[in-house]
Amino acid sequence: MALPCRRCLLLIGALSIFSLDCVTEGQKNSTLIFIKQNTIRNCSCSADIRDCDYSLANLMCSCKTILPFAVERTSYSGHLTIWFTDSSVLGRLLNFTLVQDLKLSLCSSNTLPTTYLAICGLKRLRISTEAKNPFPEQSLLIHSTRDSDSQVLPTSLHTGWQTCTYVSFLDVALFNRNSSLKSYSIENIASIAHDFPDFSYLKAFPVPNNKSYVVTFIY
Ligand SMILES: *[C@@H]1O[C@H](CO)[C@@H](O)[C@H](O)[C@H]1NC(C)=O
Ligand SMILES: *[C@@H]1O[C@H](CO)[C@@H](O)[C@H](O)[C@H]1NC(C)=O
Ligand SMILES: *[C@@H]1O[C@H](CO)[C@@H](O)[C@H](O)[C@H]1NC(C)=O
Ligand SMILES: *[C@@H]1O[C@H](CO)[C@@H](O)[C@H](O)[C@H]1NC(C)=O
Ligand SMILES: *[C@@H]1O[C@H](CO)[C@@H](O)[C@H](O)[C@H]1NC(C)=O
Repeated sequence: MALPCRRCLLLIGALSIFSLDCVTEGQKNSTLIFIKQNTIRNCSCSADIRDCDYSLANLMCSCKTILPFAVERTSYSGHLTIWFTDSSVLGRLLNFTLVQDLKLSLCSSNTLPTTYLAICGLKRLRISTEAKNPFPEQSLLIHSTRDSDSQVLPTSLHTGWQTCTYVSFLDVALFNRNSSLKSYSIENIASIAHDFPDFSYLKAFPVPNNKSYVVTFIY
C-alpha cells in the first residue's frame, strides 16, 4: 500500500473541495434508513450525518417511520446508507434489493451470524463498525464503470431482481471481523447453484434469470 504523500493529500483536498462543490450545486438527497428500538425510519438527507447519530438524523433529515411488516423489496437509484443493529432487520431491508452505492454501519456491539445478503447491481460498498471496533471506515469498489455496465444497470434497476446480472453475496458476519473487507467476482456464471455445488447455501436464493451473470462474494 502506498503511503500518503504530500502531493496525494493535496490532490485529495482538491478533490473534496470539488465534490463539496458538486453537492452544494443541488445534488440529489441521499437515503438513510436506520433501525432503533424496533422502529425503522426512512430519511432523505441533504447532508452526510455522522454514523449512528440518531437524533442528528431526526433533526437534519426528512424522515418517516415505516412499519417493519410493511417493508417491501425495492430499489435505490442513489446513495443508500443503513444503520443497523442486527441481521434480521437488515435482511428485511436489503435482501434482494437493487442498489449501486451502499453504506452499512453497524450501530451496536452485537455479534452477527453468518448469513448472506443478496444485492443486485452493487458497485460501491462502504462499511463502518465504529460501535464495535474503532476502525476506520472501509470501502470496496466491486465493479467499476465499464461503459457497458452503466448502460446495463439503470434498466435493470427498474425491471427488478429477475433481470439482475450483477449479484453480490455479502456475508453479514464480516462485521464481526477484525480483517479488511475482501471480495472476489466470477464472471460468466450460468447457474449459481450449479457452479457452486459445495456452497449449498446458495440454493436458497432464487435464480435471477437464465442468462450469464457476474457473482461477487463479499466477506
Ligand atoms: C425509503 O424512501 C424512499 C424514498 O425516499 C423509497 O424509494 C424507498 O422505497 C423507501 N424504503 C423503504 C424500505 O420503505
Ligand atoms: C432533502 O433533505 C432535506 C433535509 O436534509 C429535506 O428537508 C428535503 O425535503 C429533502 N428533499 C427531498 C427532495 O427529499
Ligand atoms: C436473505 O435471503 C436468503 C434466502 O431467503 C436467506 O437465506 C438469508 O438468510 C437472508 N439474509 C438475511 C441477512 O436475512
Ligand atoms: C484486531 O487487529 C489488531 C491489529 O491487527 C490487533 O492488535 C487486535 O488484537 C485485533 N483484535 C481482535 C479482537 O482480534
Ligand atoms: C431463457 O428464458 C427465455 C425467456 O424466459 C427463454 O425464451 C429461453 O429459452 C431461456 N433459455 C434457456 C437456455 O433456458
